Amino acid sequence: MSLVDDARAVRENAHAPYSNFKVGAAVRSTSGAVYLGCNVENVAYPEGTCAEAGAIAAMVAAGESEIAAVAVIADSPAPVSPCGGCRQKLAEFATGAVPVTLATMDGTELATTVGDLLPGAFDQDYLSRS
Ligand code: THU
Repeated sequence: MSLVDDARAVRENAHAPYSNFKVGAAVRSTSGAVYLGCNVENVAYPEGTCAEAGAIAAMVAAGESEIAAVAVIADSPAPVSPCGGCRQKLAEFATGAVPVTLATMDGTELATTVGDLLPGAFDQDYLSRS
C-alpha cells in the first residue's frame, strides 16, 4: 500500500461536519513506520485540527521525530494545498528535500517537497541570539 493509499484510507475517518471537506494525511518516518491523521473539526471552529497535524502528533507520540515522506489527500479539484500552519509543522520534522505527494480522490497527484512548500522557513537558526 502506498503512502497515498494510507492517506486515502484514514481520510474516511475525518470529522468534518462543518466544512464537509475530509482530508487524510500519512507520514512515513525515517524508521519506516507510517503515522496517520485526519482533520478533526469542532463546533468552536478555531479548535479544529488539520490532517497533517494529526499525523505529526501520532508520530511524535510514538517517540519519533524525523519525517521521510508525506502524503495528503482530499476530494478537491486539484491536489490539496497544505495550509501555512501545516507547512511549518512539517518543516519542524522534515528536511527541505523530503518528498510530499498531494493527491485528489480522482487520482491526480502532485509531487513536491517540504522545502518547496515553505521557502524561507523560519527555523532554529533565527533563535541563535536568544
Ligand atoms: N485541512 C486539512 O486538514 N489539511 C489541509 O491541508 C487543508 C485543510 C482541513 C481543515 C478543515 O477541517 C478543512 O480542511 C477545511 O479547511
